[in-house]
Amino acid sequence: MANSKFEYVKSFEVEDRLMPSTWIVIRIDGCHFHRFSEVHEFDKPNDEQALNLMNSCAVSVVEEFPDIVFSYGVSDEYSFVMKKTTKFYQRRASKILSLTVSLFSSAYVMKWKEFFPQKELKYPPYFDGRVVCYPSTEILRDYLAWRQVDCHINNQYNTCFWMLVKSGKSKNEAQDILKGTLTQEKNELLFQQFNINYNMLPAIFRKGSCVFRAKVEEITKLTDDGDPVKRYRKKVIVDHCDIIGPSFWNEHPDILGK
Ligand code: GTP
Ligand code: MG
Repeated sequence: MANSKFEYVKSFEVEDRLMPSTWIVIRIDGCHFHRFSEVHEFDKPNDEQALNLMNSCAVSVVEEFPDIVFSYGVSDEYSFVMKKTTKFYQRRASKILSLTVSLFSSAYVMKWKEFFPQKELKYPPYFDGRVVCYPSTEILRDYLAWRQVDCHINNQYNTCFWMLVKSGKSKNEAQDILKGTLTQEKNELLFQQFNINYNMLPAIFRKGSCVFRAKVEEITKLTDDGDPVKRYRKKVIVDHCDIIGPSFWNEHPDILGK
């Protein structure tokens, strides 16, 4: 290709390759979703369909980018974990981040009608994103645990807050009642005042959502005798597991490897 006198401008482009042999985490977060959820009248504190829509977008991202081995979502955020050895776009941060954010955002718009057939999407949602490298599996697991602990703290607070408001307290009164309360006290408040056992609330609200590939059994056909012919294949699934303790990771050793 002929060089033009303008070609020198390329030298201003900076290298943004992420550190090799580290877990890459891309976290996206809905921009001004406080307003977005008001305008679209999401249920408070949790709108199950809004969460299902987020999960479905995450499934699209995981299906599209095979080097994403795990993702975790809560509220208006999602974290995507890329394997340590990935060579995706030569590990260029801007490419990896922009591809993830744009695919997630366009999936959100495309799938809106599927999850909210009766609601018009009033304006385009958008997401911010950041990318961070974690040098060890231990730190990566602590990162994921941090997000799930956050989910628990916020959800428990919000569940109490909105129950108090729905029962007639003002927002300020609800805030004052909850100020300084511990986890156990919030559980007791829910149980004694509203007959709600926090641990019986849907896991999607309490635990957030995990998206990953799992082996699933499929019946491909029936034999002439009517017996099912089964096969196993890897499929991207959504589950609401505890990822703080070791059990999930012990049960799924393939996800993060040794
Ligand atoms: P930025 O991310 O800084 O742009 O602000 P934000 O308004 O998006 O707030 P943030 O990301 O801190 O928190 C997400 C907000 O989205 C929550 O505070 C809620 O207001 C709203 N939200 C998320 N999920 C739900 C939901 O299921 N129901 C309702 N009602 N609101 C939700
Ligand atoms: Mg947000």
